[in-house]
Amino acid sequence: MTQEWTKDSWRKKPIVQVPDYNDQELVTNVEGRLSSYPPLVFAGEARSLKESLAKVSRGEAFLLQGGDCAESFAEHLPDNIRDSFRVILQMAVVLTFGAGCPVIKVGRIAGQFAKPRSSNFEKQGDQELPSYRGDIINSIEFDKALRQPDPERQIMAYRQAASTLNLLRAFAQGGYANLDHVHQWNLGFVKESKQGEQYEALAGRISETLNFMNAVGINSETSAELRSVDFYTSHESLLLGYEEALTRVDSTTGEWYDTSAHMLWIGDRTRQPDGAHIEFVRGVKNPIGIKCGPSLEGSELLRLIDIINPENEEGRITLITRYGEGNVESHLPDLIRAVEAEGRSVVWSCDPMHGNTIKASNGYKTRPLDKILNEVKDFIDIHNSEGTYAGGVHIEMTGQNVTECTGGTQKISEEDLSDRYHTHCDPRLNANQALDLAFLISEKLKALRP
Ligand code: PEP
Ligand code: CO
Repeated sequence: MTQEWTKDSWRKKPIVQVPDYNDQELVTNVEGRLSSYPPLVFAGEARSLKESLAKVSRGEAFLLQGGDCAESFAEHLPDNIRDSFRVILQMAVVLTFGAGCPVIKVGRIAGQFAKPRSSNFEKQGDQELPSYRGDIINSIEFDKALRQPDPERQIMAYRQAASTLNLLRAFAQGGYANLDHVHQWNLGFVKESKQGEQYEALAGRISETLNFMNAVGINSETSAELRSVDFYTSHESLLLGYEEALTRVDSTTGEWYDTSAHMLWIGDRTRQPDGAHIEFVRGVKNPIGIKCGPSLEGSELLRLIDIINPENEEGRITLITRYGEGNVESHLPDLIRAVEAEGRSVVWSCDPMHGNTIKASNGYKTRPLDKILNEVKDFIDIHNSEGTYAGGVHIEMTGQNVTECTGGTQKISEEDLSDRYHTHCDPRLNANQALDLAFLISEKLKALRP
């Protein structure tokens, strides 16, 4: 029999990846304050996203989810938010052409602060300190006092998420995302590149179409679809005290929603069926992502799906597979067959980032663009041969001209990585590389269309 769910029932379950706070009273005090603050998103918005994801699960839309690996307090700059947003808009334009269907836009943004770590400690020279767990928990600086988890950081993270979301809402609804501006989204440094030219050609075709539509009386003044976009937020549901504090009853339906973001996902390290993280998400009605790494087998996946989505509701679950180049074939078909055999409705999305992280000879963590592209290609091909729908991608990217992933038309080499390596955690695609990926997916999807 299923145990009753409450927003704190996760506290009785085994938990991994928790920060070692030394002042529990302060943690409780912070959580109390957070629980009195306004919600960041509305339940109705999370429901709209779920409806859109239901369309993806039926092959009628495509999911584009992307943003920073970890947001940081230091880089909370309006230009960073705008540039990430506009690269997502550009990618969405490119993908819409290829997939021939709506693209659902979800940022890893406005709350993506907590990071799971493979080790609890980091050693530099003779000194060993707690690992960096994201700005919501401690500081990236290798300093004894700053590495100590500080609960007050949760308040900072909440406020930053609110302010980021405010700007994103303005960009999405206030005119910036108007399709009439499709040319202006081409970023300065991208514009000069091959992808920039390719994008410009597409934008030209869109402008022509818009002119035609205007001639027959449809334009951004008459049609909201042309003047604004739906943009959703998401992050890993990792720091459960914070998530619980933002979990509220929706007055319209009487159901629980985690109002810290529209969509939450469970990381590959915290998806134990009996663990706290799964317990928490099973009771909130937001769309839920599950990261599926190489160690997840079909039977365990079905168990997770049963726990999180017993009613088999469409749009509730997005499976985000992340295997690494060359490993997709040996894992993905088993999961697809398990899910199909039980008739479970899911969105299949590909995270081609987390299985492709390598250490460059100079010590930088990096990801070669070729490996990323190959994982996405295999993901699409395998779904095609299994008769299922490759419904989305989940990527770590930024609108900034960083040098964190190697390859692409800028031919970023391992030696170049030190030029502009700014990430607080994993290496991200820069705007050019993100557009490269969008064009590749677009062409593949176009070729598969009937
Ligand atoms: C992430 O998405 O940043 C992450 C840590 O992924 P995963 O859980 O798949 O390793
Ligand atoms: Co990451």
